[in-house]
Parts: sequence; C-alpha cells; structure tokens
Amino acid sequence: MAGAKVTDTGVVEIAAFDAPLGAELRGLDLREKLSPEAVRAVLQAWYDNQVIVFRDQDLSPRQLVDFTAQLGTPGVPRMPSQAVRDVIPDLPPEVMIVSNVRIDGKPLGLPHDGEMWFHSDMCYAEIPHTATMLYSVELPSTGGNTLFADMYAAYENLRPETRARLEGKKALQVHDYKRTERPGVDLDLTKVGNYAHPVFITHPETGRKAVYVNRLMTARIEGMERVESDAFLEELFSVAEDPSIVYEHVWRTGDLVIWDNRCITHARTDFPDNERRLLRRTTLLGTEAPQ
Ligand code: SIN
Repeated sequence: MAGAKVTDTGVVEIAAFDAPLGAELRGLDLREKLSPEAVRAVLQAWYDNQVIVFRDQDLSPRQLVDFTAQLGTPGVPRMPSQAVRDVIPDLPPEVMIVSNVRIDGKPLGLPHDGEMWFHSDMCYAEIPHTATMLYSVELPSTGGNTLFADMYAAYENLRPETRARLEGKKALQVHDYKRTERPGVDLDLTKVGNYAHPVFITHPETGRKAVYVNRLMTARIEGMERVESDAFLEELFSVAEDPSIVYEHVWRTGDLVIWDNRCITHARTDFPDNERRLLRRTTLLGTEAPQ
C-alpha cells in the first residue's frame, strides 16, 4: 500500500503501514478498559488490516490477558509447561512464553530459537484459535522479526487452473514441532496433533477467500498421489510466501501485535542464539472449524 493512510475512527487513530498489509493503532493505553466503541474499532481494524500493532505498551501478563478478554475468549495453551511454572509461578494460564531463553538448560515451553518457517497457529486443531497476540519484552539486537503473509492475496494470485483444481480439496495440517522442516512423510499421526482443513477457506467476518496451507505444518493434500500433492503444495507455498504480499514487523519492546490466523501466515527471521528474545503470547478461541 503506497503511503501511510490515516483514518480517524473517532476512537482510535489507524495508520496503515507502507506495506501490503498491517496498520498501527494509536491512542489506546491497553492497561485501561476499552469502551465498546473502541473494542468495535479495534476488531474492525483487525478485520480490515489483518495485522494490527500497538506501540509503547506496558503490560503485565495479567493485563495482557485482561486486554485479550475484551476482544473474545482467551485460549489456554498446552504450554506453559511445568518448567515455565517453576520459574514464573504467577504466569496466567492463558499466557504462553515465546522465547529462546533457557533456565538451568530448560526452555520456557517450546524452544523458540532462530528462524521459523511460515505457518498458521493451531491449523492442526479442529477449531484453531482465530487471533494470536504477541507482546514483546526482550529482543535481540538484530533479527527475530516476524513476517506476516496475506493469504487473501495468495488466493487471488494463484493461477486460475490451480484454484479450480484445488477447490473443495482438504489438506492435512500437523503439529510436529520443528521450526524449519516440512512434516515428515512417515509421521505417526497418533503422536502429533493433526486435522484436515480445506485448502481454501472463507473468512467468516469478511467473506473473503484465503489460502489455508503453509510450509511448516501442511503435510499433504488429501486424495492426491504424493508427487502431485507435493507439486501443488510447492506452487501454493511459493505464491503464499511471495515478498510482495508480506509485511515484516521489526519489533520494539512494548509492541503488542495481533494477527488473524484465518487470513495470515507468519514466520520469524533468524537472530543471534547468544542474545535473549522473550515475548508473551495470548490467543482468542475460535468457535467453528474453518470452512
Ligand atoms: C510464533 O510463530 O508463534 C512466534 C513468532 C515469533 O516469535 O515472532
């Protein structure tokens, strides 16, 4: 999008990024209870821009949950694990730590070191969480940026014959926690979270169609020979990761970023493994399987 567009909603100021997607929302202190108009404006800005950013926030874990709960029902992650509880006993159960930090050699939940490929949070669940919110606490001096790719644009940019061939097909999504590897071909599905969702889904709020596959978690297109499935997935991934549809968020401490897992995939750029990176994550529960 050329130039920053500033729209005055009367409640919050919305400044669209000079990027294919995303906007900064200004004028809200997220420690305060939002007015109903502000909640509506935040949700609308989120639907319109897919990724929204609040800068310079100062949120405790509890305040992050309280803010999240104003937009919907917060999800409870399987992490934090006991290892996290041991070092942060009062962490609300809704908050997941996203970090490369180790305490006595143990990661704070799943180890979030270095690069991570594009994926959609919880796409391997029957009812994925709709929103992810990430709040930055400690950041490396370089890298560790989060990339956001527009899956509406990916759908529109596909070859019409690919869209036609894949319409109505489902893809198997799996959670075989790795950061830069495709799901293995011989995965034991009894041991990993998995679910087959449509390759293309329709966003229930915007009515727009989006690609719903990603390099990290999509194992195969159901009902196709492996060679054909792999070829279609490679084509989908290359369109879905095209830099022309990606916004790269360069974090500052105190940023709260919210993205929409129904029309966005995200990835992380590499960062030095001897520097600390720590963010707190909450999510909003979904109410239905993607259609
Ligand atoms: C994630 O993919 O869940 C984390 C993204 C990030 O660390 O930037």
